[in-house]
Amino acid sequence: MRILIIGGDGYLGWPTAMHFAARGHQVAVLDNLQKRKWESELGVAPLAPIASLKDRAEVFQQKTGHPIEVHIGDVGDEAFIRGVLSSFRPEAIVHYGEQPSAPFSMIDAKHAIISQANNVLGTLQLAFAMHDLTPDAHLIKLGTMGEYGTPNIDIEEGYLDIEHNGRRDRLPFPKSPGSFYHLSKVHDSHNLMLAAKLWNLRVTDLNQGVVYGTDTDETVLDPQLATSFHYDGWFGTVINRFVTQAVAGEPITLYGTGGQKRALLNIRDTLQCVEISALNPAAPGEFRVFNQFTESFTVQELGSLVVEAAQPLGFKAETKEIPNPRMESESHHYNPKNSGLVALGMKPRLLTTEVLQQMVQWVASHKDRIDRKVIMPTVKWR
Ligand SMILES: NC(=O)c1ccc[n+]([C@@H]2O[C@H](COP(=O)([O-])OP(=O)(O)OC[C@H]3O[C@@H](n4cnc5c(N)ncnc54)[C@H](O)[C@@H]3O)[C@@H](O)[C@H]2O)c1
Repeated sequence: MRILIIGGDGYLGWPTAMHFAARGHQVAVLDNLQKRKWESELGVAPLAPIASLKDRAEVFQQKTGHPIEVHIGDVGDEAFIRGVLSSFRPEAIVHYGEQPSAPFSMIDAKHAIISQANNVLGTLQLAFAMHDLTPDAHLIKLGTMGEYGTPNIDIEEGYLDIEHNGRRDRLPFPKSPGSFYHLSKVHDSHNLMLAAKLWNLRVTDLNQGVVYGTDTDETVLDPQLATSFHYDGWFGTVINRFVTQAVAGEPITLYGTGGQKRALLNIRDTLQCVEISALNPAAPGEFRVFNQFTESFTVQELGSLVVEAAQPLGFKAETKEIPNPRMESESHHYNPKNSGLVALGMKPRLLTTEVLQQMVQWVASHKDRIDRKVIMPTVKWR
């Protein structure tokens, strides 16, 4: 399969590109390197040093013999994206290329507008380019479980069967997200649902949970193939941040009481789910939605699991409640469904002590690069 990975320089995009290439697919990555600029604006850096995208692709080819084609540019740049689609002719496109941080989008008007303009307009540009140039390609678009918010009913996969005033219909599941970042994903979903309907595009919208982890089969082949692991209050996802706090000897900070629930998955399962989606494409005109996660926990439970994993390895880990910078319910119903990917064969890797201890050891091997000043949240939602 010819597969284009948009956002291929990122935490998930780079391992995804290697994963497909290692399995013999023809892979191209596209990235505008904007994340690296946002990192320097905020004064943060990935925990392990990350070589340039071109250098990483070269090292990967030396190690495995598999080439990865690199395109540097913006998915929202009409001439650029059309040039890449025309030359590479992808059969599948995995779109990770967005601003991925809720706190970043909540800094101020400028950052909310950057997040929504980058994410929504980039995806719209891509949809039009696909319509004109690669109408049969399958778009696999990364959304988030945060799009749903925490309604007081079970969360279905994308659609809800409703009876209203004696009539029935199957309608998009109501979304009630809690940040301008998460809203950008909702807007993407609506745009892509229309694009699929109007132009017969094949679209899979993956509402992904919070990803954790450091290693995949390919990142461990060489230190230069490591992925961009963040632990800071901007881009660091919850477990990645907690493990780093434990290694740094800092308290594991729960936002509020830590009673809020999160759907999660291992980075290896991101690759598994995206591969399953690519190998089982949506039908022409179908806007297919999968909830992409394996387990859910309260933030308090996650903190305790990290403590239990880190202490036997000699780290003095403990949890601490801090005022919640976000506006979110800390006690709520949460029962999201994830049967779509499971039905297609997804085998979850669970969050075990062993998995957490591997993360602790990897983070400890980069302990000297941890900047304690960037871990705590600084943006308040109100
Ligand atoms: N990491 C998670 O836990 C998680 C959870 C749910 C959803 N997601 C979504 O998955 C995707 C990937 O997340 P990630 O953690 O790898 O983020 P990331 O920031 O590490 O990677 C995104 C990449 O996209 C690039 N990019 C951004 N805007 C672009 C544009 N306009 N044109 C071209 N490239 C662009 C960035 O430079 C970056 O390299 C994002 O869309 C994110 O919202 C991530």
